[in-house]
Amino acid sequence: MSNNASNARDFRVALGQFATGVTVITTVDADRSPVGVTASSFNSVSLDPPLVLWSLAKGARSMQAFQESGYFCVHVLGASQEDLSARFATPGVDKFAGQDWARGHGDVPLLPEYAARFQCKTTHMYEGGDHLIFVGEVLDYAKTDEPPLVFHGGRYALAKSKGQGERPGAAVDVTHGTFTENFFLYLLARAHFQASAPLRAEYAKADIDEDEYLTLTMLGLGGPLSLQALQVRLEHTGHTPSYATVSGMIDKGYVTETVDGTKFSITVKGRELYLSLLASSKAIEENFLARFSDAEISDVRNFLQRFIKSTDPGIPDFWQTNGNGST
Ligand SMILES: Cc1cc2nc3c(=O)[nH]c(=O)nc-3n(C[C@H](O)[C@H](O)[C@H](O)COP(=O)(O)O)c2cc1C
Repeated sequence: MSNNASNARDFRVALGQFATGVTVITTVDADRSPVGVTASSFNSVSLDPPLVLWSLAKGARSMQAFQESGYFCVHVLGASQEDLSARFATPGVDKFAGQDWARGHGDVPLLPEYAARFQCKTTHMYEGGDHLIFVGEVLDYAKTDEPPLVFHGGRYALAKSKGQGERPGAAVDVTHGTFTENFFLYLLARAHFQASAPLRAEYAKADIDEDEYLTLTMLGLGGPLSLQALQVRLEHTGHTPSYATVSGMIDKGYVTETVDGTKFSITVKGRELYLSLLASSKAIEENFLARFSDAEISDVRNFLQRFIKSTDPGIPDFWQTNGNGST
């Protein structure tokens, strides 16, 4: 292979086809101060004895610390740790500023968040061209349920499972009355129940049930609406409001009837409750979504939007039809 710039670029691009995880590898310098770098060259070597390897560019500022300390700790980063990866890949900045850490084997800094963490004692160092290859014996390790951050083609990516060889439908065994955790309807239902549990607690505090909560939401989005219009909008939820539902809400002061008695609208007190429940929903959503990356959220949102569209029984688009007094 000739050594010109375009070949070097091609070589790098070809190597980028090998998807890796991303790690932050830490050690200490002669003053026991923390040192760390981002590295994707990490790999497993041996199970018995437990050995791992990685390689560091000879020009790295941290080279001397890694060569001399005798220990290092590999933090396999989680999908949400892109910022940490970027910080530890930037030479010359204070990489540990504002960062919690503790000391582990060989006084090496341990970061608290990771998908997996391996504390190692350096056993071998090998020449590898412009890099030095470090092999370490794993003294201790830990793992979390965080999905890993992936690096592929020079970009961060997410690991996407190709499924566990289970075809759609295979998750349910009707003969034996069992289903696995891949049963799609179970996943959708369980996600819905877990996501809405804190909100259910909020509206229960206001002494309203799910029928009333959904009715309040429809009238909060716009109105006035006839009982029939409310029923058409809510039938798919299994919580179709009856006249008794709406009249109970009139008694509680959340809903009022139009003068001609054909439609219902939200009262000032009803709107206050609606807005406070909407604020709770927003806070609940923020709390849940903080656990996921932007890419994961946008994948799931796109999927759910397509799913809703393709299974829509013909529910009116209430963002379009509400508010103009129609139906
Ligand atoms: C995703 C990613 C993977 C990297 N992998 C390595 C690697 O395996 N070895 C290496 O020497 N540098 C790697 N780097 C670059 C170093 O993190 C970067 O040069 C760092 O600034 C070196 O730190 P230092 O000069 O403070 O020691 C990687 C950078 C990124 C963003």
